[in-house]
Amino acid sequence: MRNLIDIVDFSVQELKELMDTACDIDLHPEKYSERCKGKKLATLFFEPSTRTRLSFEAAMLELGGSVIGFSDASSSSAAKGESVADTAKVISCYADIIAMRHPKEGAPYVASKNATIPVINAGDGGHCHPTQTLADLLTIYRQKGKIEGITVGFCGDLKYGRTVHSLIAALARYNNINIVLISPNELKIPDYIKEEILDKNSMPYLETTSLEEAMPKLDVLYMTRVQRERFDDPKVYERLKNSYILTLDKLETAKKDMCILHPLPRVNEISVAVDKDERACYFKQVLNGKLMRMALILKLLAEKDACQDKDEKNLVVNKICCNNPRCITSVEQELDNIFKLTDKKNGIYRCIYCENQSIKKEID
Ligand code: CP
Repeated sequence: MRNLIDIVDFSVQELKELMDTACDIDLHPEKYSERCKGKKLATLFFEPSTRTRLSFEAAMLELGGSVIGFSDASSSSAAKGESVADTAKVISCYADIIAMRHPKEGAPYVASKNATIPVINAGDGGHCHPTQTLADLLTIYRQKGKIEGITVGFCGDLKYGRTVHSLIAALARYNNINIVLISPNELKIPDYIKEEILDKNSMPYLETTSLEEAMPKLDVLYMTRVQRERFDDPKVYERLKNSYILTLDKLETAKKDMCILHPLPRVNEISVAVDKDERACYFKQVLNGKLMRMALILKLLAEKDACQDKDEKNLVVNKICCNNPRCITSVEQELDNIFKLTDKKNGIYRCIYCENQSIKKEID
């Protein structure tokens, strides 16, 4: 079954095809208005959302299909203790495709292993958000006319910012991209992104705490919200929440054609006055998100029976438990604990659900 759990599930060529379809939908919506007639999308949102859920729903309705689902875990049987695996089996009896958001990292992957219909990851904890990346890529492509040969600055909460993690994974497959990582020391990008994506792809990057220093170099500035819901200690959130606020003054040193992105929701990291600046593209990103989700639904339904080969090499099962409290294995005890050997020389294994744990040597 073809799913979208991680942005790297799709090749660069497939991403290009999705962008082409999205642009065609934008130009000729009438051609697509009955393509999903008789099909149902289930939106299973265990965590709050405005854009992702409603754009998925709008996407399916504009394709002529219909939508079922819930927007609050407390109104589903998860509140009675039902597992993600069982939920996925049940929803497979009612719908043709699932979009799932969950606070636990790896939950949509577990759903995809148990569903008999395609599963789309609509955001899992601080891990990934591949459909936001589809919106981001189309926006960059439409604004810059290309995705290659650009310098992209990511600013804010790079530790828990799942949209950042997915977009970096996508950009790593394009040529000649420079990355600038702008964050407080406490919110730096996780090691697995540096080791598994940036270093492995020889992607040039620099880390800084200064937005002002980075600004003149950037073709794209990707601002992010500090993710209050991921902090264990509210005092740490309070201390970090205003680390970066983009104002018109700060944009004076930016390139005239720099593109400002933000996955939204914004709290106060971009001043409202910036919205009028031509470089502000975050509301265009919202529209592009719906178009890309339409293209994605069409693709996954068309490929429903195609196989997706997962790399099963170097997997180790059940020797130890993942100790990331945000991982889906922390709540679904019956799941196999599976680790992938990602660095043979240094004996580093990572949990296949959340990726963010590296366990050295212990399971050799
Ligand atoms: N960008 C994004 O995921 O927004 P929502 O949380 O509103 O879905």
